[in-house]
Amino acid sequence: MINIALPKGRLGEKVYGLFASAGYEFPGMLEPGRRLVFVNETLNMRCFWVKPFDVPVYVERGTADIGAAGKDILMERNPNVYELADLKTGICSMAAAGVNGWHDDPSRTLRVATEFPNIAREYYAGLGRDIDIIPLRGSLELAPVLGLSDVIVDIVETGTTLRENNLSVISVIARLSARLIANKSSYKFKGEVIDEMIRRLPQ
Ligand code: PRP
Repeated sequence: MINIALPKGRLGEKVYGLFASAGYEFPGMLEPGRRLVFVNETLNMRCFWVKPFDVPVYVERGTADIGAAGKDILMERNPNVYELADLKTGICSMAAAGVNGWHDDPSRTLRVATEFPNIAREYYAGLGRDIDIIPLRGSLELAPVLGLSDVIVDIVETGTTLRENNLSVISVIARLSARLIANKSSYKFKGEVIDEMIRRLPQ
C-alpha cells in the first residue's frame, strides 16, 4: 500500500485536484467534515490530511511514503527525504517586507517577525546582518505596523495582504511552489509505483 500525506488547506486541495485528474481519487477527500484518512482499495493507496508543517515529519519517518509540501516548509524543516517533483502549483515567494518607506539602520539589530526562523536566520546570515527573531503564528503583517518588529519574513502570493496593510517587499528570498517528496526507503522499494504517479500527474 502507498500512503500519501497531503497538507490540509488550500494548497492540499489544489494538489489533491492534480492527483484526482491523474486518476488517483479518494472519494470524500474534499467533502466538508472532520475525517482525515481516505482509502482507495482499487489503487491500494491511502491518503490523509495533515497539518502543512507536519507533512515532512510523516514522510521522513515513513508513515507516509510520499507527500506534498510547500518549498517553504522544506526549506524551514530541511527533512531527510527525496524531493521528486515540482508540482507547479501554489506558486508564491518567501520575502522580507517592511512598512512603506522603512529604511534599515545597519547599526541596530534587525527585529524580524516570522513563522520561518530558520529561513530568516540563514538569509540574514548570508547578508552578515545581526537579527533578533520574533516568532509568530500568522497575521505577521501586524508586527511591523504595530512596531513589534522592523520587518517580516513571510509568504507573498498576490501581494494583497502587504498592500492592504501599507507594507511592501524589500527583497525576495526564494520562489516557492508545492513539491512532491518521498521517504527514502519507500522510494527504494516502491519507486516504480511512485514514478508512475509522477508521470501521470499533469506537467
Ligand atoms: C499567507 C501569508 C500572507 C498571505 C499572503 O497567509 O502569511 O499573510 O498568505 O498572500 P497574498 O500575497 O495573496 O495576500 P495565509 O492566508 O496562508 O494564512 P496565515 O496568515 O494563517 O499563514
